Amino acid sequence: MALFRKRERGGEDLVGRLSHIAFIMDGNGRWAKRRGLARSAGHAAGAEACKRVIRRCRELEIHTVTVYAFSTENWSRPREEVEALMGLFDRYLDTLLADLDEYRMRFVFLGDKTPLAPALREKMERLETLSAERHTDYTLNLAINYGGRDELVHAANAAIAAGKTVLTAEDIEKHLYTAASPDPDLLVRTAGEMRLSNFLLWQASYAELWFTDRLWPDMDAADVDEAVRVYLGRTRRFGGLK
Ligand code: FPP
Repeated sequence: MALFRKRERGGEDLVGRLSHIAFIMDGNGRWAKRRGLARSAGHAAGAEACKRVIRRCRELEIHTVTVYAFSTENWSRPREEVEALMGLFDRYLDTLLADLDEYRMRFVFLGDKTPLAPALREKMERLETLSAERHTDYTLNLAINYGGRDELVHAANAAIAAGKTVLTAEDIEKHLYTAASPDPDLLVRTAGEMRLSNFLLWQASYAELWFTDRLWPDMDAADVDEAVRVYLGRTRRFGGLK
């Protein structure tokens, strides 16, 4: 089945209304626990939800989608869970590579790839290179081993390495992992938690925030529509006056 062949639902009023939506995908563990399943089953269901959400974002012509898949702090989880997540990412990348021309998206990985397994890194780099050659209109940023603080330190050091001694905001922005993306318009966090958890600390300065009680594996097209509707009801002033 084609992933993105046609718009399957209504919601025309929601099409093309925002440029960048970011998701903190929370609640996989609770979703699994409620069903008496292993946490890894929650993450696997979360990966499926991710596909549904990306598909709906595409239908709504949101050109940049960012998902927080693994933070710099997630390494502190039990070894079996980290291994299960890394295995899931590896298999997920296989499906993205296989379906590259269905997704028609550029894939960008946000975060420090250095501590990741060489085989996983190689797939990430291949996906970045191949997708950038073919598809530039829509972008999926996947944050893996990503931390907002780590990103800012990385960006500052990169600017210094490039010869800067006094840094400007532009110097930092140029070296963010998200340098190729606009700032997010809307940041969504699922599962009822209301915090940023080290995600897009610089970029989300003026993002609208929306917190939903839905657990990430339950997210579907209707939830994306609701997020966009909430966003459309907000007034953005960027610190100025309306
Ligand atoms: C947080 O929920 C979720 C994660 C740390 C992992 C997110 C990963 C996925 C959704 C898989 C998607 C994969 C790709 C490659 C996009 P939690 O485990 O902390 O949930 P809990 O708070 O209910 O325990």
